[in-house]
Amino acid sequence: MGKDVIIACDFASKADTLAFLDKFENKSLYLKIGMELFYAEGPDIVREIKARGHKIFLDLKLHDIPNTVKKAMNVLSRLDVDMCNLHAAGTCAMMEAALEGLTRPDGTRPLLIAVTQLTSTSQERMTEDLLIDQPIDKVVMHYAQNAKKSGLDGIVCSPLEAGKVHDTCGKDFITVTPGVRFADGDKGDQVRVMTPAEAKKIGSDYIVVGRPITAAADPVAAYDRCVAEFCD
Ligand code: C5P
Repeated sequence: MGKDVIIACDFASKADTLAFLDKFENKSLYLKIGMELFYAEGPDIVREIKARGHKIFLDLKLHDIPNTVKKAMNVLSRLDVDMCNLHAAGTCAMMEAALEGLTRPDGTRPLLIAVTQLTSTSQERMTEDLLIDQPIDKVVMHYAQNAKKSGLDGIVCSPLEAGKVHDTCGKDFITVTPGVRFADGDKGDQVRVMTPAEAKKIGSDYIVVGRPITAAADPVAAYDRCVAEFCD
């Protein structure tokens, strides 16, 4: 499994995103595009970034009836993204339909990973708002197993959970982990964080890093530091 640093491009516009990418000159990057940028700029932002030679994790977290998700995934597959995601809460039938939609006529497809319970959902809110009467760790691991059973490639999780996910679902099941901070850096609004070196040790396959790179005085140096700690 290829270890890689994915930069979260949490910018509001194409102009801001391209100005950021220009700093990296000829480097080939792996970039996460989320709802804000995609909804602001549309699929052209994906085409333009792909044309610059970068890889894209399109973080749109699909969740709908299986047929709708299948058709939407088919569109994303034609956009030539490298990784996309959905909510495991949409059921195994939805995840299987998503994979079908994503698979191109030649059999290739982007990686598909699942969101289990969002890290913004606490035990209390899950129990009271969603009426899920189980410990949250058990729910996360059950959703991970559902994703694996449905044929998905992995899940998004905290780096703190990556070891357990690999123990439960196998070492080839991909863990994509946000919540990464440098040892001497600002945590911002993230609570449970790990350094890139710790994330590597615990077995994360991809780390998603936003502000430690995008808000750094020297984003290229911050990215290189992540790569040196995580990939080398
Ligand atoms: O700036 P920062 O490194 O905190 O960015 C992390 C990125 O990962 C953001 O795009 C955030 O929305 C995303 N993310 C997260 N925690 C999750 C899922 C996604 O921080 N559980």
